[in-house]
Amino acid sequence: MPAFKDRTRRRMSLPIGPYLNLDNRRSSTASTGSDSSYCDTSSDEEGKLPRDKHQVNSSGSSDFCVKNIKQHAFGRREIEIAEQEMPGIVALRQRADGEKPLKGAKIICCTHVNAQTAVLIETLITLGASVRWAACNIYSTQNEVASAVAEAGVPVYAWRGESEEDFWWCIDKCIHSDSWQPNMILDDGGDATHLMLKKYPAMFRGIKGIVEESVTGVHRLYQLSKAQKLTVPAMNVNDSVTKTKFDNLYSCRESILDALKRATDVMFGGKHVLVCGYGEVGKGCCSALKGMGAVVCVSEIDPICALQACMDGFRVVKVNEVVRNIDILVTATGNKNVVTREHMDKMKNGCILCNMGHSNTEIDVQSLRGLTWEKVRSQVDHIIWPDGKRIILLAEGRLANLSCSTIPSFVVSITASTQALALIELFSAPAGRYKGDVYLLPKKMDEYVASLHLPTFDAHLTEMTEDQARYMGLNRAGPFKQAYYRY
Ligand SMILES: NC(=O)c1ccc[n+]([C@@H]2O[C@H](COP(=O)([O-])OP(=O)(O)OC[C@H]3O[C@@H](n4cnc5c(N)ncnc54)[C@H](O)[C@@H]3O)[C@@H](O)[C@H]2O)c1
Repeated sequence: MPAFKDRTRRRMSLPIGPYLNLDNRRSSTASTGSDSSYCDTSSDEEGKLPRDKHQVNSSGSSDFCVKNIKQHAFGRREIEIAEQEMPGIVALRQRADGEKPLKGAKIICCTHVNAQTAVLIETLITLGASVRWAACNIYSTQNEVASAVAEAGVPVYAWRGESEEDFWWCIDKCIHSDSWQPNMILDDGGDATHLMLKKYPAMFRGIKGIVEESVTGVHRLYQLSKAQKLTVPAMNVNDSVTKTKFDNLYSCRESILDALKRATDVMFGGKHVLVCGYGEVGKGCCSALKGMGAVVCVSEIDPICALQACMDGFRVVKVNEVVRNIDILVTATGNKNVVTREHMDKMKNGCILCNMGHSNTEIDVQSLRGLTWEKVRSQVDHIIWPDGKRIILLAEGRLANLSCSTIPSFVVSITASTQALALIELFSAPAGRYKGDVYLLPKKMDEYVASLHLPTFDAHLTEMTEDQARYMGLNRAGPFKQAYYRY
Protein backbone atom coordinates (compact mmCIF):
# COMPACT_ATOMS: atom_id res chain seq x y z
CA MET A 1 0.00 0.00 0.00
CA PRO A 2 2.55 2.60 -0.96
CA ALA A 3 2.77 6.00 -2.76
CA PHE A 4 4.27 9.04 -1.25
CA LYS A 5 5.59 12.42 -2.08
CA ASP A 6 8.94 13.81 -1.13
CA ARG A 7 8.52 14.08 2.60
CA THR A 8 11.46 16.41 2.92
CA ARG A 9 9.11 19.17 1.78
CA ARG A 10 7.49 19.25 5.16
CA ARG A 11 10.18 18.66 7.69
CA MET A 12 9.93 20.58 10.93
CA SER A 13 10.08 19.75 14.57
CA LEU A 14 7.40 17.47 15.90
CA PRO A 15 5.02 18.38 18.67
CA ILE A 16 6.22 15.78 21.11
CA GLY A 17 8.77 13.94 19.03
CA PRO A 18 11.36 12.85 21.55
CA TYR A 19 8.73 11.20 23.73
CA LEU A 20 7.39 9.06 20.96
CA ASN A 21 8.94 6.30 18.97
CA LEU A 22 9.40 8.20 15.75
CA ASP A 23 11.84 5.72 14.29
CA ASN A 24 8.89 3.58 13.32
CA ARG A 25 8.05 5.85 10.48
CA ARG A 26 11.26 7.52 9.41
CA SER A 27 12.41 6.60 5.98
CA SER A 28 15.06 7.40 3.46
CA THR A 29 15.15 10.42 1.27
CA ALA A 30 16.10 8.03 -1.49
CA SER A 31 12.50 7.05 -1.89
CA THR A 32 10.41 9.35 -3.89
CA GLY A 33 8.53 6.83 -5.97
CA SER A 34 4.83 6.60 -6.19
CA ASP A 35 2.54 3.62 -6.34
CA SER A 36 -0.69 5.41 -6.94
CA SER A 37 -3.79 3.29 -6.98
CA TYR A 38 -5.52 2.89 -10.30
CA CYS A 39 -7.89 5.71 -9.50
CA ASP A 40 -5.35 8.08 -8.05
CA THR A 41 -5.29 10.26 -11.11
CA SER A 42 -4.10 13.78 -11.62
CA SER A 43 -6.42 16.60 -10.83
CA ASP A 44 -6.34 20.34 -11.16
CA GLU A 45 -4.88 20.39 -7.69
CA GLU A 46 -2.18 17.88 -8.58
CA GLY A 47 1.04 18.80 -6.88
CA LYS A 48 -0.62 20.43 -3.90
CA LEU A 49 -0.18 18.70 -0.58
CA PRO A 50 -3.45 17.61 1.06
CA ARG A 51 -3.02 20.14 3.86
CA ASP A 52 -2.81 22.94 1.31
CA LYS A 53 -6.04 22.00 -0.45
CA HIS A 54 -9.51 23.19 0.47
CA GLN A 55 -11.80 20.21 0.03
CA VAL A 56 -15.48 19.83 0.83
CA ASN A 57 -17.60 16.69 0.71
CA SER A 58 -21.05 16.64 -0.88
CA SER A 59 -22.67 17.41 2.48
CA GLY A 60 -20.61 20.58 2.72
CA SER A 61 -18.27 19.37 5.45
CA SER A 62 -14.58 20.19 5.30
CA ASP A 63 -13.72 18.43 8.56
CA PHE A 64 -11.30 15.99 6.93
CA CYS A 65 -8.00 15.98 5.09
CA VAL A 66 -7.48 13.41 2.36
CA LYS A 67 -5.55 13.33 -0.89
CA ASN A 68 -8.50 13.86 -3.20
CA ILE A 69 -12.14 13.76 -2.09
CA LYS A 70 -13.22 13.29 -5.70
CA GLN A 71 -11.96 9.70 -5.61
CA HIS A 72 -14.64 8.63 -3.13
CA ALA A 73 -16.61 6.40 -5.53
CA PHE A 74 -13.58 4.21 -6.15
CA GLY A 75 -12.98 3.97 -2.43
CA ARG A 76 -16.59 2.95 -1.82
CA ARG A 77 -16.13 0.03 -4.23
CA GLU A 78 -12.98 -1.02 -2.36
CA ILE A 79 -14.91 -0.98 0.91
CA GLU A 80 -17.72 -3.04 -0.63
CA ILE A 81 -15.23 -5.62 -1.90
CA ALA A 82 -13.67 -5.82 1.57
CA GLU A 83 -17.09 -6.25 3.20
CA GLN A 84 -17.72 -9.38 1.14
CA GLU A 85 -14.68 -11.01 2.73
CA MET A 86 -15.39 -9.75 6.25
CA PRO A 87 -18.35 -11.84 7.37
CA GLY A 88 -17.69 -11.65 11.11
CA ILE A 89 -17.62 -7.89 11.45
CA VAL A 90 -20.61 -7.54 9.12
CA ALA A 91 -22.53 -10.12 11.22
CA LEU A 92 -21.61 -8.20 14.37
CA ARG A 93 -22.86 -5.02 12.73
CA GLN A 94 -26.18 -6.66 11.91
CA ARG A 95 -26.62 -8.35 15.30
CA ALA A 96 -25.82 -5.30 17.42
CA ASP A 97 -27.35 -2.64 15.19
CA GLY A 98 -30.68 -2.49 17.04
CA GLU A 99 -29.04 -2.26 20.47
CA LYS A 100 -26.54 0.49 19.53
CA PRO A 101 -24.09 -0.66 22.23
CA LEU A 102 -21.70 2.18 21.36
CA LYS A 103 -24.28 4.96 21.58
CA GLY A 104 -22.46 7.91 23.12
CA ALA A 105 -18.99 6.53 22.40
CA LYS A 106 -16.67 9.10 20.82
CA ILE A 107 -13.72 7.22 19.51
CA ILE A 108 -10.32 8.44 18.34
CA CYS A 109 -9.22 5.84 15.80
CA CYS A 110 -5.56 5.70 14.84
CA THR A 111 -5.20 2.66 12.64
CA HIS A 112 -4.26 1.75 9.08
CA VAL A 113 -6.61 3.67 6.81
CA ASN A 114 -7.60 1.01 4.32
CA ALA A 115 -10.71 -0.69 3.02
CA GLN A 116 -10.81 -3.34 5.73
CA THR A 117 -10.46 -0.90 8.58
CA ALA A 118 -13.10 1.26 6.93
CA VAL A 119 -15.49 -1.68 7.40
CA LEU A 120 -14.65 -1.64 11.11
CA ILE A 121 -15.01 2.15 11.35
CA GLU A 122 -18.40 2.07 9.65
CA THR A 123 -19.45 -0.79 11.92
CA LEU A 124 -18.57 1.27 14.99
CA ILE A 125 -20.69 4.09 13.61
CA THR A 126 -23.61 1.73 12.93
CA LEU A 127 -23.33 0.57 16.53
CA GLY A 128 -23.83 4.13 17.72
CA ALA A 129 -20.31 5.58 17.96
CA SER A 130 -18.97 8.76 16.44
CA VAL A 131 -15.34 8.57 15.34
CA ARG A 132 -12.45 10.68 14.15
CA TRP A 133 -9.86 8.73 12.21
CA ALA A 134 -6.14 9.16 11.50
CA ALA A 135 -3.54 6.80 10.05
CA CYS A 136 -1.10 4.90 12.22
CA ASN A 137 1.32 4.45 9.33
CA ILE A 138 2.48 6.97 6.75
CA TYR A 139 2.55 4.49 3.87
CA SER A 140 -0.47 2.27 4.30
CA THR A 141 -3.35 4.66 3.60
CA GLN A 142 -5.56 3.84 0.62
CA ASN A 143 -6.29 7.36 -0.55
CA GLU A 144 -9.54 6.56 -2.30
CA VAL A 145 -10.84 4.73 0.78
CA ALA A 146 -10.03 7.74 2.95
CA SER A 147 -12.00 9.82 0.43
CA ALA A 148 -15.01 7.47 0.58
CA VAL A 149 -15.11 7.62 4.35
CA ALA A 150 -14.73 11.42 4.34
CA GLU A 151 -17.52 11.64 1.79
CA ALA A 152 -19.70 9.58 4.16
CA GLY A 153 -19.18 12.27 6.78
CA VAL A 154 -16.42 10.78 8.93
CA PRO A 155 -13.67 13.23 9.88
CA VAL A 156 -10.67 11.36 8.49
CA TYR A 157 -7.20 12.86 8.37
CA ALA A 158 -4.92 10.61 6.35
CA TRP A 159 -3.18 10.25 3.03
CA ARG A 160 -0.48 8.02 1.73
CA GLY A 161 3.00 9.43 2.10
CA GLU A 162 2.44 11.80 5.01
CA SER A 163 5.58 13.46 6.29
CA GLU A 164 6.42 12.98 9.94
CA GLU A 165 4.99 16.38 10.69
CA ASP A 166 1.81 15.60 8.73
CA PHE A 167 1.52 12.34 10.63
CA TRP A 168 1.35 14.09 14.01
CA TRP A 169 -0.77 16.91 12.63
CA CYS A 170 -3.38 14.38 11.44
CA ILE A 171 -3.55 12.63 14.80
CA ASP A 172 -3.74 15.97 16.55
CA LYS A 173 -6.60 17.10 14.29
CA CYS A 174 -8.50 13.98 15.30
CA ILE A 175 -7.88 14.38 18.98
CA HIS A 176 -8.40 18.09 19.21
CA SER A 177 -11.66 19.32 17.79
CA ASP A 178 -13.64 22.27 19.17
CA SER A 179 -17.00 20.55 19.14
CA TRP A 180 -16.07 17.01 20.04
CA GLN A 181 -14.55 15.43 23.15
CA PRO A 182 -13.35 11.82 22.79
CA ASN A 183 -14.07 9.18 25.41
CA MET A 184 -12.48 6.10 23.81
CA ILE A 185 -9.29 5.37 21.84
CA LEU A 186 -8.80 2.68 19.22
CA ASP A 187 -5.05 2.63 18.65
CA ASP A 188 -2.57 0.67 16.58
CA GLY A 189 0.94 1.46 17.78
CA GLY A 190 0.08 3.68 20.71
CA ASP A 191 0.64 7.04 19.01
CA ALA A 192 -2.82 8.52 19.61
CA THR A 193 -2.73 7.34 23.21
CA HIS A 194 0.66 8.85 23.85
CA LEU A 195 -0.02 12.11 22.05
CA MET A 196 -3.18 12.61 24.08
CA LEU A 197 -1.51 11.63 27.34
CA LYS A 198 1.35 14.03 26.73
CA LYS A 199 -0.41 16.98 25.11
CA TYR A 200 -3.97 16.75 26.44
CA PRO A 201 -3.71 15.16 29.90
CA ALA A 202 -7.09 16.50 31.05
CA MET A 203 -8.76 14.97 28.01
CA PHE A 204 -6.94 11.70 28.66
CA ARG A 205 -8.44 11.51 32.13
CA GLY A 206 -11.90 11.53 30.53
CA ILE A 207 -11.17 8.44 28.43
CA LYS A 208 -13.22 5.35 29.38
CA GLY A 209 -11.02 2.84 27.62
CA ILE A 210 -8.24 2.19 25.13
CA VAL A 211 -8.18 -0.69 22.68
CA GLU A 212 -4.71 -1.37 21.36
CA GLU A 213 -3.87 -3.77 18.57
CA SER A 214 -0.12 -3.81 18.03
CA VAL A 215 2.76 -5.45 19.86
CA THR A 216 4.50 -2.08 20.17
CA GLY A 217 1.42 -0.28 21.45
CA VAL A 218 0.66 -2.99 23.97
CA HIS A 219 4.27 -2.92 25.17
CA ARG A 220 4.01 0.83 25.70
CA LEU A 221 0.75 0.39 27.61
CA TYR A 222 2.32 -2.17 29.95
CA GLN A 223 5.23 0.25 30.50
CA LEU A 224 2.76 3.02 31.36
CA SER A 225 0.91 0.69 33.68
CA LYS A 226 4.16 -0.33 35.39
CA ALA A 227 5.05 3.33 35.85
CA GLN A 228 1.54 3.85 37.28
CA LYS A 229 0.77 6.41 34.61
CA LEU A 230 -2.06 4.47 33.01
CA THR A 231 -5.16 5.98 34.53
CA VAL A 232 -7.67 4.33 32.20
CA PRO A 233 -8.39 0.68 31.37
CA ALA A 234 -6.83 -0.67 28.19
CA MET A 235 -7.63 -3.81 26.28
CA ASN A 236 -4.71 -5.70 24.77
CA VAL A 237 -6.25 -7.02 21.56
CA ASN A 238 -2.88 -8.05 20.19
CA ASP A 239 -2.64 -10.99 22.54
CA SER A 240 -6.16 -12.23 21.97
CA VAL A 241 -5.97 -15.70 20.50
CA THR A 242 -8.18 -14.56 17.68
CA LYS A 243 -5.56 -11.94 16.79
CA THR A 244 -2.19 -13.65 17.15
CA LYS A 245 -3.18 -17.02 15.81
CA PHE A 246 -4.94 -15.61 12.79
CA ASP A 247 -3.43 -12.24 11.89
CA ASN A 248 0.17 -13.11 12.69
CA LEU A 249 0.10 -16.69 11.44
CA TYR A 250 -2.49 -17.12 8.69
CA SER A 251 -2.39 -13.60 7.30
CA CYS A 252 1.40 -13.57 7.05
CA ARG A 253 1.33 -17.08 5.58
CA GLU A 254 -0.59 -15.69 2.64
CA SER A 255 0.77 -12.19 2.35
CA ILE A 256 4.51 -13.01 2.40
CA LEU A 257 4.17 -14.68 -0.99
CA ASP A 258 2.00 -11.91 -2.35
CA ALA A 259 4.40 -9.18 -1.20
CA LEU A 260 7.53 -10.86 -2.56
CA LYS A 261 5.88 -11.76 -5.84
CA ARG A 262 4.36 -8.36 -6.51
CA ALA A 263 7.55 -6.54 -5.61
CA THR A 264 10.10 -8.71 -7.37
CA ASP A 265 8.35 -11.31 -9.60
CA VAL A 266 10.57 -13.88 -7.93
CA MET A 267 9.96 -17.60 -8.40
CA PHE A 268 10.14 -19.43 -5.09
CA GLY A 269 10.82 -23.02 -6.16
CA GLY A 270 14.34 -24.07 -5.22
CA LYS A 271 15.29 -20.69 -3.76
CA HIS A 272 17.28 -20.65 -0.52
CA VAL A 273 15.42 -18.65 2.08
CA LEU A 274 16.33 -17.64 5.62
CA VAL A 275 13.50 -16.65 7.96
CA CYS A 276 14.69 -14.95 11.16
CA GLY A 277 12.30 -15.73 14.01
CA TYR A 278 10.02 -18.75 14.30
CA GLY A 279 7.13 -17.21 16.21
CA GLU A 280 3.65 -16.86 14.71
CA VAL A 281 4.75 -14.65 11.82
CA GLY A 282 7.87 -16.69 11.10
CA LYS A 283 5.89 -19.95 11.16
CA GLY A 284 3.43 -18.53 8.65
CA CYS A 285 6.21 -17.32 6.33
CA CYS A 286 8.15 -20.59 6.55
CA SER A 287 5.11 -22.71 5.85
CA ALA A 288 4.13 -20.68 2.78
CA LEU A 289 7.63 -20.55 1.33
CA LYS A 290 8.21 -24.25 1.95
CA GLY A 291 4.89 -24.96 0.27
CA MET A 292 6.15 -23.17 -2.83
CA GLY A 293 9.25 -25.35 -2.99
CA ALA A 294 11.75 -22.99 -1.40
CA VAL A 295 14.56 -24.44 0.74
CA VAL A 296 13.95 -22.71 4.06
CA CYS A 297 16.27 -22.22 7.06
CA VAL A 298 15.35 -20.54 10.32
CA SER A 299 17.30 -18.50 12.87
CA GLU A 300 16.03 -18.35 16.44
CA ILE A 301 17.16 -17.27 19.90
CA ASP A 302 14.58 -19.35 21.78
CA PRO A 303 15.30 -23.08 22.07
CA ILE A 304 11.60 -23.94 22.18
CA CYS A 305 10.83 -22.16 18.90
CA ALA A 306 14.08 -23.53 17.45
CA LEU A 307 12.98 -27.07 18.36
CA GLN A 308 9.58 -26.44 16.80
CA ALA A 309 11.35 -25.35 13.61
CA CYS A 310 13.41 -28.55 13.65
CA MET A 311 10.28 -30.67 14.15
CA ASP A 312 8.66 -28.88 11.23
CA GLY A 313 11.61 -29.82 9.04
CA PHE A 314 13.58 -26.57 8.94
CA ARG A 315 17.33 -26.29 9.54
CA VAL A 316 18.07 -23.90 12.39
CA VAL A 317 21.14 -21.79 11.67
CA LYS A 318 22.85 -18.58 12.63
CA VAL A 319 22.48 -15.80 10.07
CA ASN A 320 26.25 -15.76 9.49
CA GLU A 321 26.32 -19.43 8.56
CA VAL A 322 24.08 -19.08 5.52
CA VAL A 323 23.97 -15.40 4.63
CA ARG A 324 26.41 -15.75 1.70
CA ASN A 325 24.21 -18.27 -0.08
CA ILE A 326 20.64 -17.23 0.45
CA ASP A 327 18.35 -15.78 -2.22
CA ILE A 328 15.73 -14.32 0.12
CA LEU A 329 15.95 -13.21 3.75
CA VAL A 330 12.80 -12.46 5.74
CA THR A 331 12.90 -11.03 9.26
CA ALA A 332 10.05 -11.81 11.66
CA THR A 333 11.43 -11.38 15.16
CA GLY A 334 9.99 -8.19 16.66
CA ASN A 335 13.62 -7.36 17.50
CA LYS A 336 16.16 -4.82 16.25
CA ASN A 337 19.24 -5.11 14.03
CA VAL A 338 18.68 -8.78 13.33
CA VAL A 339 20.23 -8.13 9.93
CA THR A 340 23.29 -5.92 10.21
CA ARG A 341 25.51 -4.18 7.67
CA GLU A 342 28.04 -6.94 8.19
CA HIS A 343 25.43 -9.50 7.12
CA MET A 344 24.40 -7.42 4.13
CA ASP A 345 28.04 -7.00 3.04
CA LYS A 346 28.20 -10.79 2.77
CA MET A 347 24.97 -11.29 0.85
CA LYS A 348 25.24 -12.37 -2.75
CA ASN A 349 24.24 -10.27 -5.71
CA GLY A 350 20.47 -10.18 -6.16
CA CYS A 351 19.54 -11.28 -2.64
CA ILE A 352 16.06 -10.09 -1.68
CA LEU A 353 15.76 -8.66 1.81
CA CYS A 354 12.50 -7.89 3.54
CA ASN A 355 10.92 -7.50 6.95
CA MET A 356 7.65 -9.01 8.14
CA GLY A 357 8.21 -8.28 11.81
CA HIS A 358 8.47 -5.07 13.76
CA SER A 359 8.10 -1.71 11.96
CA ASN A 360 11.52 -0.81 10.53
CA THR A 361 13.93 -1.93 13.22
CA GLU A 362 14.79 -5.46 12.19
CA ILE A 363 17.10 -4.60 9.29
CA ASP A 364 19.79 -1.99 9.92
CA VAL A 365 18.71 0.12 6.95
CA GLN A 366 20.50 3.22 8.25
CA SER A 367 23.83 1.48 7.75
CA LEU A 368 23.09 1.33 4.00
CA ARG A 369 22.69 5.06 3.56
CA GLY A 370 26.24 5.58 2.31
CA LEU A 371 25.65 3.17 -0.59
CA THR A 372 23.92 3.91 -3.88
CA TRP A 373 20.13 3.50 -3.79
CA GLU A 374 18.29 2.96 -7.04
CA LYS A 375 14.52 2.88 -6.93
CA VAL A 376 13.32 0.18 -9.32
CA ARG A 377 9.65 0.14 -8.31
CA SER A 378 7.61 1.64 -5.59
CA GLN A 379 8.78 0.05 -2.34
CA VAL A 380 11.61 -1.75 -4.12
CA ASP A 381 15.15 -0.39 -3.96
CA HIS A 382 18.36 -1.76 -5.34
CA ILE A 383 21.16 -1.07 -2.90
CA ILE A 384 24.39 -1.01 -4.88
CA TRP A 385 27.81 -1.66 -3.38
CA PRO A 386 30.92 0.00 -4.88
CA ASP A 387 31.86 -3.29 -6.61
CA GLY A 388 28.50 -3.38 -8.38
CA LYS A 389 26.81 -5.94 -6.10
CA ARG A 390 23.10 -5.24 -5.63
CA ILE A 391 20.68 -6.41 -3.02
CA ILE A 392 16.96 -5.83 -3.33
CA LEU A 393 15.42 -4.19 -0.30
CA LEU A 394 11.64 -4.07 0.07
CA ALA A 395 9.81 -1.15 1.65
CA GLU A 396 13.00 0.24 3.17
CA GLY A 397 12.82 -2.47 5.80
CA ARG A 398 9.23 -1.76 6.82
CA LEU A 399 6.53 -4.43 6.87
CA ALA A 400 6.71 -5.95 3.41
CA ASN A 401 3.17 -7.27 3.31
CA LEU A 402 1.58 -3.99 4.39
CA SER A 403 3.80 -2.00 2.03
CA CYS A 404 4.00 -4.19 -1.07
CA SER A 405 0.74 -6.12 -1.09
CA THR A 406 -2.61 -6.21 0.57
CA ILE A 407 -3.60 -8.31 3.54
CA PRO A 408 -6.48 -10.81 3.45
CA SER A 409 -9.73 -9.11 4.41
CA PHE A 410 -11.02 -12.25 6.11
CA VAL A 411 -8.26 -12.16 8.70
CA VAL A 412 -8.81 -8.46 9.28
CA SER A 413 -12.46 -9.29 9.90
CA ILE A 414 -11.40 -11.46 12.83
CA THR A 415 -9.18 -8.76 14.33
CA ALA A 416 -11.76 -6.04 13.63
CA SER A 417 -14.50 -8.05 15.37
CA THR A 418 -12.20 -8.45 18.37
CA GLN A 419 -11.50 -4.70 18.40
CA ALA A 420 -15.20 -3.86 18.15
CA LEU A 421 -16.10 -6.22 21.00
CA ALA A 422 -13.27 -4.83 23.13
CA LEU A 423 -14.58 -1.30 22.58
CA ILE A 424 -18.12 -2.39 23.47
CA GLU A 425 -16.87 -4.21 26.58
CA LEU A 426 -14.84 -1.24 27.87
CA PHE A 427 -17.49 1.31 26.97
CA SER A 428 -20.40 -0.54 28.54
CA ALA A 429 -18.64 -2.17 31.51
CA PRO A 430 -20.11 -1.19 34.88
CA ALA A 431 -17.93 1.15 36.93
CA GLY A 432 -15.26 -0.75 38.81
CA ARG A 433 -15.01 -3.77 36.48
CA TYR A 434 -11.84 -2.40 34.90
CA LYS A 435 -9.20 -0.21 36.53
CA GLY A 436 -6.25 1.72 35.05
CA ASP A 437 -4.52 -1.39 33.79
CA VAL A 438 -4.07 -3.57 30.71
CA TYR A 439 -6.55 -6.41 30.19
CA LEU A 440 -7.08 -9.28 27.78
CA LEU A 441 -10.49 -9.74 26.23
CA PRO A 442 -12.44 -12.46 28.09
CA LYS A 443 -12.02 -15.82 26.36
CA LYS A 444 -15.75 -16.11 25.83
CA MET A 445 -15.52 -13.11 23.51
CA ASP A 446 -12.63 -14.66 21.60
CA GLU A 447 -14.79 -17.71 21.11
CA TYR A 448 -17.68 -15.50 19.99
CA VAL A 449 -15.44 -13.80 17.39
CA ALA A 450 -14.43 -17.20 16.03
CA SER A 451 -18.06 -18.37 15.94
CA LEU A 452 -19.03 -15.31 13.89
CA HIS A 453 -16.69 -16.54 11.15
CA LEU A 454 -17.67 -20.21 11.07
CA PRO A 455 -20.82 -19.91 8.93
CA THR A 456 -18.62 -18.81 6.00
CA PHE A 457 -17.24 -22.33 5.90
CA ASP A 458 -20.53 -24.04 6.66
CA ALA A 459 -18.70 -25.40 9.70
CA HIS A 460 -20.91 -27.32 12.14
CA LEU A 461 -19.79 -27.18 15.76
CA THR A 462 -20.33 -30.21 17.97
CA GLU A 463 -22.26 -29.51 21.17
CA MET A 464 -21.30 -31.37 24.31
CA THR A 465 -23.90 -33.36 26.17
CA GLU A 466 -24.61 -32.33 29.78
CA ASP A 467 -22.77 -35.44 30.84
CA GLN A 468 -19.72 -34.58 28.75
CA ALA A 469 -19.69 -30.99 30.03
CA ARG A 470 -19.81 -32.25 33.62
CA TYR A 471 -17.01 -34.71 32.90
CA MET A 472 -14.83 -31.94 31.45
CA GLY A 473 -15.81 -29.42 34.13
CA LEU A 474 -17.04 -26.98 31.48
CA ASN A 475 -20.11 -24.93 30.76
CA ARG A 476 -21.84 -26.22 27.62
CA ALA A 477 -21.84 -22.67 26.21
CA GLY A 478 -18.13 -22.10 26.88
CA PRO A 479 -15.55 -20.93 27.52
CA PHE A 480 -14.12 -24.18 26.27
CA LYS A 481 -10.50 -23.70 27.33
CA GLN A 482 -8.64 -22.37 30.34
CA ALA A 483 -6.86 -19.01 30.01
CA TYR A 484 -3.49 -20.75 29.84
CA TYR A 485 -4.40 -23.00 26.90
CA ARG A 486 -2.01 -22.31 23.98
CA TYR A 487 -3.97 -23.43 20.91
N1 LIG B 1 3.67 -8.31 8.90
C1 LIG B 1 2.53 -8.42 9.55
O1 LIG B 1 1.44 -8.32 8.97
C2 LIG B 1 2.55 -8.74 11.01
C3 LIG B 1 1.41 -9.32 11.60
C4 LIG B 1 1.46 -9.61 12.94
C5 LIG B 1 2.59 -9.31 13.69
N2 LIG B 1 3.66 -8.72 13.08
C6 LIG B 1 4.89 -8.39 13.82
O2 LIG B 1 5.82 -9.46 13.63
C7 LIG B 1 6.68 -9.55 14.77
C8 LIG B 1 6.72 -11.00 15.22
O3 LIG B 1 5.41 -11.37 15.65
P1 LIG B 1 5.15 -12.84 16.20
O4 LIG B 1 3.73 -12.94 16.56
O5 LIG B 1 5.75 -13.85 15.29
O6 LIG B 1 6.03 -12.76 17.54
P2 LIG B 1 6.65 -13.98 18.35
O7 LIG B 1 7.15 -13.42 19.61
O8 LIG B 1 5.70 -15.12 18.36
O9 LIG B 1 7.90 -14.44 17.43
C9 LIG B 1 9.09 -13.75 17.29
C10 LIG B 1 10.21 -14.78 17.37
O10 LIG B 1 11.45 -14.17 17.05
C11 LIG B 1 12.44 -14.71 17.90
N3 LIG B 1 13.56 -13.78 17.95
C12 LIG B 1 13.69 -12.63 18.69
N4 LIG B 1 14.88 -12.07 18.44
C13 LIG B 1 15.50 -12.84 17.52
C14 LIG B 1 16.75 -12.75 16.86
N5 LIG B 1 17.63 -11.78 17.11
N6 LIG B 1 17.07 -13.71 15.97
C15 LIG B 1 16.22 -14.72 15.71
N7 LIG B 1 15.02 -14.87 16.31
C16 LIG B 1 14.68 -13.93 17.21
C17 LIG B 1 11.72 -14.91 19.22
O11 LIG B 1 12.37 -15.88 20.02
C18 LIG B 1 10.34 -15.36 18.77
O12 LIG B 1 10.25 -16.77 18.72
C19 LIG B 1 6.12 -8.59 15.79
O13 LIG B 1 6.89 -7.42 15.78
C20 LIG B 1 4.71 -8.30 15.30
O14 LIG B 1 4.27 -7.02 15.65
C21 LIG B 1 3.67 -8.46 11.76
